[in-house]
Order: sequence, then C-alpha cells, then structure tokens
Amino acid sequence: MTDLFSKFDPLIQQREALLATGVTDPFSLVMEKVVSPTVAICNGRETILLGTYNYMGMTFDDDVIAAGKDALDKFGSGTTGSRVLNGTYQGHKECEEALKEFYAMDHAMVFSTGYQANLGIISTIAGKGDYVILDIDSHASIYDGCKMGDAEIVAFRHNDVEALEKRLKRLPPEAGKLVVLEGVYSMLGDVAPLKEMIRVSKQAGAMVLVDEAHSMGFIGAHGRGVAEAQGVIDDVDFIIGTFSKSVGTVGGFCVSNHPKFEIMRLVCRPYVFTASLPPSVVATAATSIRKLMHGSNKRAHLWENSKTLHKGLQGLGFQLGTEEPQSAIIAVIMPDLEKGAMMWEALLEEGLYVNLARPPATPAGMTLLRCSLCAEHSSEQVGEILARFERAGKRVGIID
Ligand SMILES: Cc1ncc(COP(=O)(O)O)c(C=O)c1O
Repeated sequence: MTDLFSKFDPLIQQREALLATGVTDPFSLVMEKVVSPTVAICNGRETILLGTYNYMGMTFDDDVIAAGKDALDKFGSGTTGSRVLNGTYQGHKECEEALKEFYAMDHAMVFSTGYQANLGIISTIAGKGDYVILDIDSHASIYDGCKMGDAEIVAFRHNDVEALEKRLKRLPPEAGKLVVLEGVYSMLGDVAPLKEMIRVSKQAGAMVLVDEAHSMGFIGAHGRGVAEAQGVIDDVDFIIGTFSKSVGTVGGFCVSNHPKFEIMRLVCRPYVFTASLPPSVVATAATSIRKLMHGSNKRAHLWENSKTLHKGLQGLGFQLGTEEPQSAIIAVIMPDLEKGAMMWEALLEEGLYVNLARPPATPAGMTLLRCSLCAEHSSEQVGEILARFERAGKRVGIID
C-alpha cells in the first residue's frame, strides 16, 4: 500500500525541524478571550491584535451584535439548506440589497465564504475553451476556481501591465477571456494598477473580475475598493468580496451589472450545493455593510494608523513589503522561516499578535510578518505596537 500521506513528508520534516528549535508553533495559537476588535487574551496575556484583517473593527459594533442576536432569536441558529431550496430567508435578501446599495450595482449574490465566491464565479463563467488571465500572486481561491472550471490558465507577472497586455495579445481574438485581478494583494499589501490593467483588458475584449477582499470598507471614497479609488469601477464586470475582513463576520459575495447575472444562482455549484449562511450572520453582515457606507471618519483614522506604523517600522530599520503604505496591510520581511518564527514568538511574548506567512502563500519564497491595522486601533496602541516591535526586533537580532 502506498501511504497517501507520504507527499506531506517534506512539510512534516520542516515543521518538526522548526519546533525542535524550541519555538512555539506559530500556526496553533488559541485566542482564549477576545476583548475587543484590537485586544485578546492569548497564553493568559493581554495581547494587541495586529493580524486579524478586521480593518473597520465591526466585530464588536453594538448595532451589529444586536442585529445578530435578534436574528438568532427570531430565525434560529441555521437555515439547514441551500439558497435555492429552503436556505433563502428575508435576511439573505436584505444582505444582498445592502450590497447592491453599497456598490451601486444591479445584482448581488451572497455565498457562504469569499473562497466559495471566487471558486463559484470563476469556475462557472470560465469553462472549457475559455481563458482566465490572472496575476501570478493571486489568492488560492482564485487558482482553485480556475482549476475547477477547466479554462486555460494564463498567469502574468505580478502587477505588470505590459506582461498582461502581451499575454492578452497572444490569445485567439474570438475566445472567451476573463482577467482576474485583486485590488489589494494581501501578502505585501500592495495595490494593483487597475486603471491600466482594465484598459488593456477591455481593449482585448476580456471581461474583468476584481477581488476587493482587502479594500472593501476602507479604500475609495465610498469604501468600494481600489477600482473605485482609481475611477474604473464602472468598467469592472464582477467584484468579489468577503464578509470576513472589513464586514467583520463570515461570508462572501459577487456584485455585478451584467444583465444575465441572476442565472448564476442556478448554475454556480458552490452556491447551489452548500448550505446558506445562518440568519444571525447575514443580519450582522447587512447591518455592518450599511454602517460602512457612512464610515469616512473611520477610514481616515485607519489611513493615519497605516501611515504611522509604516513610517515607524521603516525608521526602526525593518524591511517592508512596500516603499509607501498602500493599504491597511504592512508586511515586514523576515530573513528566513526560523528567524520569522522567533520574531513572531518574541512579539507574542511582548503582547502583540501578527500573522506569520510563509511559502507557498507568500511571493518569491519570502517569510513575512503581516500586520493588518484596524480603524479601532488608538494612536496610543500604534505607538505601543512600535515599541514592542523595537524590543522584539533587537532581542531576535532583526534590527540593531
Ligand atoms: C484576496 C482574497 N480573496 C478571497 C479570500 C477568501 O475569503 P473568505 O475568508 O471569506 O473565504 C481571501 C481570504 O483570505 C482573500 O485574501
């Protein structure tokens, strides 16, 4: 018998070697208590959260929590069914209405996760004989959607408009083409040149899908994302998003102005063949989305936080993923996995939680400490975060 687990041996050995250095397993942290969007108790210690993607801090919003409790009381704990059978409640429709209003688009479809939204939309619209042209650093859910759909996959160099244009020019002019982009790339926190990319895509007759998972609520005058900020949202055919970041709960969605979009509800397998979100979740999502429409003060404060942290870390001598802050994600580049895990642990001992990211999730084999800021981080907390980075960085030998 061939042990089907033998393919994981290299990863098992890498993990064992890392733990043998005495470092705490960075991928099994337990949040013992969550006090607020920015503070939790981990290993019995009060810890500032700087790795949650809870950009707008909506998880503890009073109205959001009240809406969830009310829906739990009135509609029960779950729908126990697919959206196309018994799983569409009033709350799911209200959530889709809130999304249509938020994006000023004609159609909105809510999925059980953002992962499923990418999986479902990409695999359903791009099938055999079609082409998906995607940035090489795309999220796993985008790659998995491509695999499931059976289209030809054409990857281009990260954020490289010329490379995209060249790839598009080589494709048969009559073939169906979907260009898949992200507004903010979550590993380094860099923003895509969507304006130019959408221009070359449209010239080549391609449809465009933009995943705005890490920009919703924060980037753009109305928080609609990078496409809004760059003035090209009307040229985007499909926007994908998630409720697991700025919205502060769980779920995913696609919004579109395509006149035939509603047929997706019948043909998209990751929408049809899974249970819908619980009523409490869609109620919290709808309330949060409506509040995010009026979040300009919070957006301004989040930008302040991002700029302060970026400048401070750069000043301390850390190597960062971007020259300037471009989003609410600031990636600190570590020399290798071992040093990265030591730094991650040292920060945790200081009472600061960040995300440790390593290949294959990261580009160019990098180990990263990914910091994601929250609109609810106070200026004092950002100052404290910098002090903790300085102490941990010196202790581990990452900075002098
Ligand atoms: C760019 C991008 N798209 C989609 C997703 C999936 O979102 P969800 O957590 O809702 O499955 C993520 C989550 O990490 C993401 O970063």
